[in-house]
Amino acid sequence: MSAWIPTSWQEHPAAQQPDWPDPAALDGVLKELHGRPPLVFAGEARTLQAALAKVARGEAFMLQAGDCAESFNDSSADGIRDKLKVILQMAVVLTYASGLPVVKVGRIAGQFAKPRSAVTEEREDTVLPVFRGHAINDAAFDTESRRADPRRLLTAYNQSASTLNLIRALTKGGFADLRQIHVWNQEFVAASKQGRRYEAIAHQIDRSLRFMAACGINLETDASLHEVDFYISHEALLLGYEEALTRQDSLTGDWYDCSAHLLWIGERTRRIDGAHVAFLSGVKNPIACKLSAAATPDDVLRLCDALNPDNEPGRLTFITRMGADKVGDALPPLVAVVQSDGRNVVWTCDPMHANTFVTPSGYKTRRLADIMVEIKRFFAVHNAAGTVPGGVHLELTHQNVTECLGGAEEIFDHDLAHRYEALCDPRLNARQSLDLAFEIGAMLQT
Ligand code: PEP
Ligand code: CO
Repeated sequence: MSAWIPTSWQEHPAAQQPDWPDPAALDGVLKELHGRPPLVFAGEARTLQAALAKVARGEAFMLQAGDCAESFNDSSADGIRDKLKVILQMAVVLTYASGLPVVKVGRIAGQFAKPRSAVTEEREDTVLPVFRGHAINDAAFDTESRRADPRRLLTAYNQSASTLNLIRALTKGGFADLRQIHVWNQEFVAASKQGRRYEAIAHQIDRSLRFMAACGINLETDASLHEVDFYISHEALLLGYEEALTRQDSLTGDWYDCSAHLLWIGERTRRIDGAHVAFLSGVKNPIACKLSAAATPDDVLRLCDALNPDNEPGRLTFITRMGADKVGDALPPLVAVVQSDGRNVVWTCDPMHANTFVTPSGYKTRRLADIMVEIKRFFAVHNAAGTVPGGVHLELTHQNVTECLGGAEEIFDHDLAHRYEALCDPRLNARQSLDLAFEIGAMLQT
């Protein structure tokens, strides 16, 4: 086999690529992206891999969360800050319950391309290309909006850069300081049951910090109280874009996909001989791969061979998304084969993507109850096998949307129309996210 280079994937079938009407324009854009600065650095990707190696050993917990699809119409500083608030709040709840550090990874700053189950969408008598995410086309149902426009890749890069820039400023510049813990409670959350429960923890943490200061511990000098490591991730779907942002690390000579710290392969693109596996096999970032209930033990071993041939801890995460009703049967054989074969992987649970359904009124939704059941069963499988339930992968937003059903302040079927703004899949709102964090915290406590 010839040595891997960033273009090696082109010799394999690439599923889920848009039909770009103007290949010359696409080429021009990809060349331009190739000349742009990397968004992340190799050293950061290595730090994340080390953190994930801890997750694999059960010494940390991974929280990966954000939008299903980010939007070009929603790039405000307030939105980014509030999304970060929800994830920081959830991480506090999880850390407080489990006593474990939480590895925080956003589905953010690059999550602009979606795999779709159909190539076209039909409404009344009109058939148009399907919406594939803002890096490709627009969601509005007209010919112009649905045309794949490569200039959107530059907008995706630019929005990723400005989003990441703000995330870096917020997480390293004082906003993520543990003494700001009360500020992370957004107004509409603070008034809720979950918000008050969070406040109680925040109050305890305040007291602990005051206690330590009174004991003479100098809290000023300890960076871990004032800064947070926050990583970015997205599905590595558009291989031209990912290739254009791949750089050779000057320190090690290794290739890194510098569009994000962690990249994942979706359920629809994990074919072992496909271009997505071929591409991610050659970059040294930590990577992840989704697994549905249809994945076989053989698929899993072959993915380990292709994506983590040196069996490095923290390199490969399997994100299982099997459904509340299937995970109990489908997960154990996969966990068993990985365990008996001595493969190092991180197991995380995406309780969103196999618990989606459409209501009679036409809304794509998920029940918080199903989400919780899938997580509970995921924990139960790992606890029974003696393996590590390493984390969760969630679709959520900071906004007070009504896209998923249930929660401590119930959202019912008839509430969905009230504020349904998802570009792609339904997201948990901030209150439902906190609800879930308390539930997961309780599972980690036992
Ligand atoms: C997603 O994460 O938004 C997604 C499409 O997931 P999956 O590949 O698991 O269907
Ligand atoms: Co989704």
